[in-house]
Amino acid sequence: MINGSMIKTRILIIGSNGMLGQRLTDFFSASSNVELLCTSQEEESFNKNVEYKSLDITNKQKVKEIILDFFPDFVINAAAFTNVDKAESERELTWKVNVNGVENIALYSWTIDAHLIHISTDYIFDGKNGPYSEKDKPSPINYYGRSKLASENSIRTSGVRFTILRSNVLYGPAKFGRPDYVKWVIGSLSLHKEIRIVKDQFNNPTFIDDISQAINKIVEYKKEGIFNIAGPEILSRLEFTNRIADHFLLDKDLIKPIVTEELKQPATRPLKSGLITLKAETELGYKPTSITDSFAIIEKNLNL
Ligand SMILES: NC(=O)c1ccc[n+]([C@@H]2O[C@H](COP(=O)([O-])OP(=O)(O)OC[C@H]3O[C@@H](n4cnc5c(N)ncnc54)[C@H](OP(=O)(O)O)[C@@H]3O)[C@@H](O)[C@H]2O)c1
Repeated sequence: MINGSMIKTRILIIGSNGMLGQRLTDFFSASSNVELLCTSQEEESFNKNVEYKSLDITNKQKVKEIILDFFPDFVINAAAFTNVDKAESERELTWKVNVNGVENIALYSWTIDAHLIHISTDYIFDGKNGPYSEKDKPSPINYYGRSKLASENSIRTSGVRFTILRSNVLYGPAKFGRPDYVKWVIGSLSLHKEIRIVKDQFNNPTFIDDISQAINKIVEYKKEGIFNIAGPEILSRLEFTNRIADHFLLDKDLIKPIVTEELKQPATRPLKSGLITLKAETELGYKPTSITDSFAIIEKNLNL
């Protein structure tokens, strides 16, 4: 405090209309210690109560203007090209957003000595022997994973102070945009639609608000480096889907077990994946929300 007035932490959120970005926006806009600016590529913010500017991260000049003008202490990048299958056929755009866009953000964050917090993924691994720790060697098996690994590397070589958070299968109470996995399952089963679910993909789905909590700690402790932020249980997608059906009292007979091979998806999926969160638990006091509690929070927030 100086003369009774508190010095606020200046935070710039990039990708604030995305699934994660929305929840980060809600979280940090509720903090009286934070001066917040949100950006996303749309003209308008989903959250009408925040300062907002439209920003396409591939526009280097615009990235420069916004970062140099707002002069944030922290830049949180939640923007990315996230459609894993489309990334196979739209390689140029995927690279432009996930690598060149991140290079722009890293460059101007470095210029003003802001701390860059960037979200990455378990898809940088091949899924042969997960779950993975922060020290395991990445080896992506699809184009999205390659672009996300390249984005990590561009940050690491830029000289910027950074924290990279790796996560997987985000779900939670985001209100706008495409439905996440949990909402898709609830929606399909509620309409009595049969769904084919893979029994050979393993990971630890992540309650999105746990990422906000982890980022809050990173801001508080100014922690740099790589951190896995993911859910408390490693389970197959089939098991996770059964847990959703159990909690929301939906018909499990509509869930048909299959193997990944049967889906014939354009992008190869890591099978035995997931992220070990011990480092975050030890260094950030990270405590992932249990699956049951996370479903209860979603139920309450979305009035399900
Ligand atoms: N979802 C998951 O399961 C998962 C798992 C692991 C890691 N991650 C990572 O977590 C982060 C957030 O993912 P999410 O699930 O919140 O994805 P999302 O809902 O797709 O959000 C990404 C946002 O980035 C925006 N964007 C795309 N291109 C842009 C550009 N050129 N300039 C500015 N914004 C742009 C998108 O806008 P439009 O919607 O208009 O395209 C969207 O609002 C990403 O880095 C992702 O790789 C996600």
